[in-house]
Amino acid sequence: MRKPILIANWKMNGSLHSNQALLVRMLAKLRPFRKTIDMAICPPFPYLFQVRDLLGYTGIALGAQNASRATSGAHTGEVSATMLHEMGCRYVLLGHSERRALYHESDDDVAARFQQVLSAGLIPVMCVGETLEEREQGWTMKVVQRQLQTVIDQCGMSGLAGSIVAYEPIWAIGTGRTATPEQVADTHRAIRQFLENCETGAGQSVRIVYGGSVKAANAAALFSSPEVDGGLIGGASLQADEFSNIGAALANTVNPVTSTLT
Ligand code: PGA
Repeated sequence: MRKPILIANWKMNGSLHSNQALLVRMLAKLRPFRKTIDMAICPPFPYLFQVRDLLGYTGIALGAQNASRATSGAHTGEVSATMLHEMGCRYVLLGHSERRALYHESDDDVAARFQQVLSAGLIPVMCVGETLEEREQGWTMKVVQRQLQTVIDQCGMSGLAGSIVAYEPIWAIGTGRTATPEQVADTHRAIRQFLENCETGAGQSVRIVYGGSVKAANAAALFSSPEVDGGLIGGASLQADEFSNIGAALANTVNPVTSTLT
C-alpha cells in the first residue's frame, strides 16, 4: 500500500516574516492529516533553517528544490545534497520543468543530481512531464520514458525505485490549466506500467504524484484515481487555506481502515 504524499513547492517565494505567518496558520490546519498522509514543505534554500525549526516535531518533512550534481568544491552558487541532508531535508525536487526550461538542465544533468541526492540518503522527487506540443503530437510517454530512462541508466532501477515520481505536464504548471483527472490517471497508469516492465514490483511500489495547477477546488477530482498518490503543489501551497483543503482532499482518499500506515 502506498501512503499518499502532499509536497509544497514554494518556488522563489517567501520572506522570513511571511513564511512564519503562513506556516503558523498552515500547520494548525494540517494537523488532522498528519497520520493519514505524508507531507513536505520545500522552501527556497535560505529559509530551510527557519522552516525546519517551525516544522519542529509536527511530522511534516523538509524538502529542497534542487541539489548540485557536484559533491563539493569550486561550484559557486551551488548547494550540495550532503548540505541539504545536514540541514534536515528528507526530500529533494529534481528536474522540475522550470529548472529544465529556464536553467537548461538536461536529462543527464538531472540524473547526475539524482545520484548525488540518493548518495546523501535523501529521497528524490523526480519531476517529469511533456510540453503542450508534445502532448498534442501524442508523445507524452515517449518524453516521460526518456526522462526516467536516463535516471535508470545512470542510477539503476533500484535508484529510481527509491524515489517519488512527480508527473507535471508543463502546460499545466502555473497556468491555471489543469490536466483532466482522466489524463492524469492514464499517464500515471502508463508510468506505472513502464516502471513495472523495468523491474517487477516497481510499478506498484513507487509513489507517483501529480503537479500542475492543483487547487482546493479540483484536488478531490484529481486525487480520485488510485493511480494518483498525491500532489506537488506550487501556487496553492502559498495559501494556508488552499493547501490545507488540498491536504483534506488527499486524506479523504485514504480508506480509514488503512489509515494507520506509518
Ligand atoms: P503550480 O506548480 O501548482 O503552481 O502549477 C506546480 C509545480 O510547479 O510544482
